[in-house]
Amino acid sequence: MENTNNVPVHVSIIMDGNGRWAKEKDLDRAAGHIEGVESVRACTEAAVECGVRYLSLYAFSEENWGRPQEEVNALMELMFKSMMEELSNFLSNGIRFMVLGHRERLSDKLNAMIDDCMEKTRMNDRLTLIVFLSYSGKWDILQAAKKFAAEVLSHPEDSEKLMNMDVDGFDRYLVTDGIPDPDLIIRTSGEQRISNYLLWQGAYSELLFSDILWPDFRKQEFRSALQAYSKRDRRYGKVK
Ligand code: FPP
Repeated sequence: MENTNNVPVHVSIIMDGNGRWAKEKDLDRAAGHIEGVESVRACTEAAVECGVRYLSLYAFSEENWGRPQEEVNALMELMFKSMMEELSNFLSNGIRFMVLGHRERLSDKLNAMIDDCMEKTRMNDRLTLIVFLSYSGKWDILQAAKKFAAEVLSHPEDSEKLMNMDVDGFDRYLVTDGIPDPDLIIRTSGEQRISNYLLWQGAYSELLFSDILWPDFRKQEFRSALQAYSKRDRRYGKVK
């Protein structure tokens, strides 16, 4: 990257357009998702090359459970297979792998694979690759509020301190505890909405909407997005 001062620490991507990519080519939707995994690989490599420290991907929303069972199964199978195939790659490239979301809804088989990949890569620190699976922003805020309420109830002696908690204090109840908020959120395929993604964490993220369909979003497109980000002027509601 030319402008190394302005490399975002955390880039997050709403990967959209796999179905349309497949339809354009007269293929079934699963073929679009399979090709989408190649974009995941390319963007992960580009993130490492550019010095991005966190790359997160919205792979499956809570709402996506409502898709036809066949497509849900194909996506879950693809996640499993990708993790199995990429683990050695994560290990040799210093990538810490994480899955965040409503994990109780995932199968035991997939959860076991996720636990294995997370455990084996947890000491890596070149890039943290986060896959948001069965995730939604409202779900995250709700589960955080429930955790908070449970803590107040179980520690009445601390309730006053807890009730005085500030915005930063609430961060630790979210599934993203310890992960910096995204500097840049990219959405592919021309759609311009946040779709219940990182609602709390994305409060001050720069948004970049690309017309490119996810299976066509590769290294060059990732680098262009970082270039565009480097020209943004972030003020966080203040005057500079
Ligand atoms: C959105 O396209 C894409 C998804 C819901 C799934 C994305 C998942 C992958 C690419 C697999 C990722 C794998 C790993 C290991 C992270 P869409 O189906 O909504 O496309 P459409 O809007 O054109 O129908």
